[in-house]
Amino acid sequence: AGTVPVTLKVNGTTHQVNIDPRATVLDTLRETLHLTGTKKGCDHGQCGACTIHVNGKRANSCLLFAAMHQDAEITTIEGLGTPDHMHPMQAAFVEHDGYQCGYCTSGQIMSSVAMLKEPIGPHDADVKEALSGNICRCGAYPNIVAAVQACRR
Ligand code: FES
Repeated sequence: AGTVPVTLKVNGTTHQVNIDPRATVLDTLRETLHLTGTKKGCDHGQCGACTIHVNGKRANSCLLFAAMHQDAEITTIEGLGTPDHMHPMQAAFVEHDGYQCGYCTSGQIMSSVAMLKEPIGPHDADVKEALSGNICRCGAYPNIVAAVQACRR
């Protein structure tokens, strides 16, 4: 199949790439831009491992066509913080062991950070509901909720 020129703004940097017009944002991030912090679990919008921010709101990058997001501000886990300068949510996940294998963690954190700007109730159950699109196969949910709640305080 042929490729098309696409311009993507990721973590504040503009990238010009030539990609399959059907390429998803997820595959373009991982395979073309080599930003592999965003993970592919189901590739069908059901697990949340691929969660990124599009114009500040959370989105499943496996469901988005890159060619349709040329005007968008895309943020990935790499744009959130670094090991030396973690985002407060990243620090909270570390402090509260909000993971086991870590595969879902980027998505959990991206979702959690976006959630801070959403009208979510104060209780653990509210956080669980708000993060219900992010599946953790290890079942680290209690620690994930603890991390998010610590960051909200
Ligand atoms: Fe996108 Fe599972 S990989 S929701």
